[in-house]
Amino acid sequence: MTHQHPSRMGHPHPSVTSPSAPPIYQTTAFDVPDLDVLQALYEGKATGDVYTRDSNPNHTALAESIAIMEDAEAGAVFASGMGAAGSIFLALTSAGDHVILARALYGKTLQLASRMQQKFGLRISYFDADQPEQLKELLTEKTRFVLVETVSNPLLQVADIEAIAGSLSDSIPLVVDSTFTTPELIRPLNLGASIVFHSASKYLNGHGDVMLGVAAGKKSLIRQLSETSSIFGQNPNPFESWLCQRGLRTLPLRMKQICQTTLELARELSRHPAVQKVHHPLLPGHPSQPIASRLYPDGTGGILALELSGEGFSVVNRFMQAATGMPFSPTLADARTTISHPATTSHRFMTAEQRAGIGIRDELIRVSVGLEPLEQLKVEFSQVLEATAG
Ligand SMILES: Cc1ncc(COP(=O)(O)O)c(C=O)c1O
Repeated sequence: MTHQHPSRMGHPHPSVTSPSAPPIYQTTAFDVPDLDVLQALYEGKATGDVYTRDSNPNHTALAESIAIMEDAEAGAVFASGMGAAGSIFLALTSAGDHVILARALYGKTLQLASRMQQKFGLRISYFDADQPEQLKELLTEKTRFVLVETVSNPLLQVADIEAIAGSLSDSIPLVVDSTFTTPELIRPLNLGASIVFHSASKYLNGHGDVMLGVAAGKKSLIRQLSETSSIFGQNPNPFESWLCQRGLRTLPLRMKQICQTTLELARELSRHPAVQKVHHPLLPGHPSQPIASRLYPDGTGGILALELSGEGFSVVNRFMQAATGMPFSPTLADARTTISHPATTSHRFMTAEQRAGIGIRDELIRVSVGLEPLEQLKVEFSQVLEATAG
């Protein structure tokens, strides 16, 4: 008797019911019944997937969810936030073009731009995203986009999105990295941006177990990003899209609690003698406070930064060693509170002088506030700061 070969086993039977939770389509490719169907798929006359690097139901489901949440025509997914940023640079610029970047951007995004400059002669100008009037004299015939973060990493400068978009012609897209804020707190496309993107490794997923990027915006632009992502192999794994989709279900609850806890904790820490300065956009004295209060009535997310009293890396080391319950982790937006040190992580490729120029001191610690109760965090920070001060 000939047995069926194991390579042909394991496909579930068709069923009159469907799974209550979305299934994971962990497959490289999709079986195509005949050439007519294949033609129809490639010509867009039939809906379906062929090869996961180009499309997959888990990616499509997440891309559609992001598009809905961002009030966008279309969405796309990428292997990481940098996959999204890289696809934007590659899709929208050619050798010799010009882009304008906010001076305060995530370190790797700045590194990406400088690599594009070295390799392809991309010209870059910088401006302060809370001073949109600086843009006028930077724009040229060759400017292909302007890129800002809603709330910058790590000093939390807030971009005046509406004013920036208002000073650009329709042919120059405003690209907004909304990783820190999510569509729960702001929808940049409704304020005039053309593309919004996120490191979905952060709040959108929210559990510190995914590497993923997403973008949303006008259909024509998103199509260009998706094509680029497919050619350069920037699509994620279906499981990551599935996990992020699961994380999105609790995003509104998580962001509400995180925003409240973070602001209260920032107020508390700003009164502590072992802290020289607390950066939070809704605290009086923060340079972006007027813009933040206008754009973010529900809060600016879960990040605050604090400058410890004392000098150099040793005070940071003492803080880290005492903060056993709040681990040093070079990411943010985990469900638990974590700390990071921008000078030796995200901005380590800069010289000490360059860092000082953008206000990133050696004693600066970035805190990503998690879902723990406020009272617990107040007690823990107070203990850690006491131990740090010695
Ligand atoms: C503001 C911001 N944008 C983009 C990224 C890059 O995202 P990923 O780490 O998913 O590549 C990060 C990562 O920390 C970030 O903080």
